[in-house]
Amino acid sequence: MTYQERYDSYLAMLEPALKACFGEERGFDFDGLLDAMDYSLTAGGKRIRPVLVLEFSRLLGGDVEKTLPVACAVEMLHTYSLIHDDLPCMDNDDLRRGKPTNHKVFGESTAVLAGDALQAEAFGTILRSALPAERRARCAEILAGAAGIDGICGGQFMDLAAEERTFSAEEVSELQSRKTGALLAGACMLGAAAAGADEAAIDTAAQYGAQLGAAFQIRDDMLDVLSTESELGKPIGSDKREGKTTFMSLYGEAECARMVDEISKMAVQTVAGIDTDGFLSEMAAKLATRMK
Ligand code: IPE
Ligand code: IPE
Ligand code: MG
Ligand code: MG
Ligand code: MG
Repeated sequence: MTYQERYDSYLAMLEPALKACFGEERGFDFDGLLDAMDYSLTAGGKRIRPVLVLEFSRLLGGDVEKTLPVACAVEMLHTYSLIHDDLPCMDNDDLRRGKPTNHKVFGESTAVLAGDALQAEAFGTILRSALPAERRARCAEILAGAAGIDGICGGQFMDLAAEERTFSAEEVSELQSRKTGALLAGACMLGAAAAGADEAAIDTAAQYGAQLGAAFQIRDDMLDVLSTESELGKPIGSDKREGKTTFMSLYGEAECARMVDEISKMAVQTVAGIDTDGFLSEMAAKLATRMK
């Protein structure tokens, strides 16, 4: 099976499962909130994080079907982070996944609640899954770590501070490892934990995900300058408009491209012992030069 065939087979599982989460009319007063959650969750997106969950589970001997709710959970948490990231009090952006941002369609208060509810439902989805209780608990712990102070929220807090003063390269690395690296590492760890892998394997998954995440966010900062709105499905120039320190503002395009290449190769090395079909290596290489 080629990389693309495997990726497509995961998408074929994920897309209907994500649509089923909040897409059904429930015929009561909360339909407006459910519509807002469903709107952003099914707006598209590359689905990198849930694909990583499924692939790590497969590689480490897990039951991919039983891992599917965990994969949906990580995409819910990611989608919540995007809805909040776009709010006027954060990055103040109008376009996401090629569509108007959640608050533009549903209003700010519903967008805040849709994000809150997606985060809570992510944990509920893991805890209600058919995995053994110990694995569910470990998965919930991993997701909490990726979402909280040492993850997205801590990183987003630092990211906003990086609009107020120029951050050092070390500080930018730290903020990126929290706001983006933690959930990519978390996705890999979730797949391993859902498979019942030992802590050494979960550590390897974490290291690969953190390296993938570091490269991924530098590339994201490059695309904010180099890509187009129609290709990215989100506005370009957002970081500069908000006056954020990023690796692009510190080092420029050539040095960023070199760093992305170097870190992606390190990620490939990290999984050399488990990446039997080369899927993880190919993913790192493809993301390093992605245009969206
Ligand atoms: C965007 O993530 C936010 C960052 C962490 C840079 P993705 O680039 O994975 O966004 P989608 O899910 O494909 O829309
Ligand atoms: C966002 O980083 C990371 C999140 C935790 C959502 P960015 O603000 O650069 O992401 P985009 O470019 O809006 O997708
Ligand atoms: Mg942001
Ligand atoms: Mg943003
Ligand atoms: Mg960005």
